Amino acid sequence: MGIETSCDETAAAVVADGRVIKSSVVASQTKLHEKYGGVVPEIASRAHIENIYQVITEAIEQAKVSKDDIDAIAVANQPGLTIALVVGVTAAKTLSFAWDKPLIAINHLHAHLQSALLAEEKITLPAVALIVSGGHTCLYDYHSPLEPKLVGCTIDDAAGEAFDKVATILRLPYPGGPSIEKAASKGNPKAIKFPRSMLGRDSLDFSFSGIKTAVLYYCRGQDMKGEDKVDSMSEQEIADVAASFQAAVIEVLVKKTKRAVEKIGAETVLLGGGVAANNQLRTALQQLCESYKPAKKLLVAPKQYCTDNAVMVASLGYHKFKVKLFADLTLEPKASG
Ligand code: KG4
Ligand code: ZN
Repeated sequence: MGIETSCDETAAAVVADGRVIKSSVVASQTKLHEKYGGVVPEIASRAHIENIYQVITEAIEQAKVSKDDIDAIAVANQPGLTIALVVGVTAAKTLSFAWDKPLIAINHLHAHLQSALLAEEKITLPAVALIVSGGHTCLYDYHSPLEPKLVGCTIDDAAGEAFDKVATILRLPYPGGPSIEKAASKGNPKAIKFPRSMLGRDSLDFSFSGIKTAVLYYCRGQDMKGEDKVDSMSEQEIADVAASFQAAVIEVLVKKTKRAVEKIGAETVLLGGGVAANNQLRTALQQLCESYKPAKKLLVAPKQYCTDNAVMVASLGYHKFKVKLFADLTLEPKASG
């Protein structure tokens, strides 16, 4: 069984043999955070406490298993909001103790990576994994589920965070990523030339704060003293800003992935994390993979498992279970990962 409470989704799932999804329950808190335009940690934590028992119960019922069928309890304990993570960790430790099952600590980002492998049993290694979520943007050199090697990450904002902040600037509904994608579908991606920050020539790191600021300046004037143009922008102008922003972010993500593929000599590209739900990003990475002769293989998480869920936690838990990588009851949540 997997348990996930790192941000604003309370989730539990039962997965057999790492890939057979017996149940997946996700209680989303979007409605609670909507009016604040972002996740409020205290509200998230309280909602996890209210939901966790029901979510776990439902996951077991839907899977049509009893506690005796469950081999281990896997829980995301890092990275994330500590006061949110602690709810899942406490529930997992309690079940581990009460049911006498091994406890498995899961890195939430490694779990996102694992979700890209749900559709495929065998992959050709080496692989590059791109994880793009609300809190992180990371590239990994992937050789095994247990030891993905971080080769690049954002030095400031995460890609998803930039989507969310630009949506707020454009007064598009929360959560920002899907809203930007929807608006962008009607816009011209070449309308405005927003900056593409590539950092050093060989760098595999990312920076998205510059583009967010560029959108802000575009809407409010260079010194932020001009009038906010957003209210007077037509739907088409908003769509053009959204499309131009989205195109810039995707171009950077694809170019950096290409660098990593060539540096590592990868045969396969894995894509996961909330932003991986974006169709344009999926298509652009598919085109990158097909541009090689022979083509590289792209493995993307199924859409419902791109954003936070517990299937990915249970799935990675299976690999740790096989080699008996267990945690004990001193397990603590950790903000960084
Ligand atoms: O992985 P996730 O559910 O949570 C974290 O671990 O952060 O990712 C959430 C992020 C949010 O920033 C959300 O706006 C973004 O994923 N997102 C998208 C799309 N769907 C979700 N970004 C772009 N396009 C989408 N369709
Ligand atoms: Zn996540």
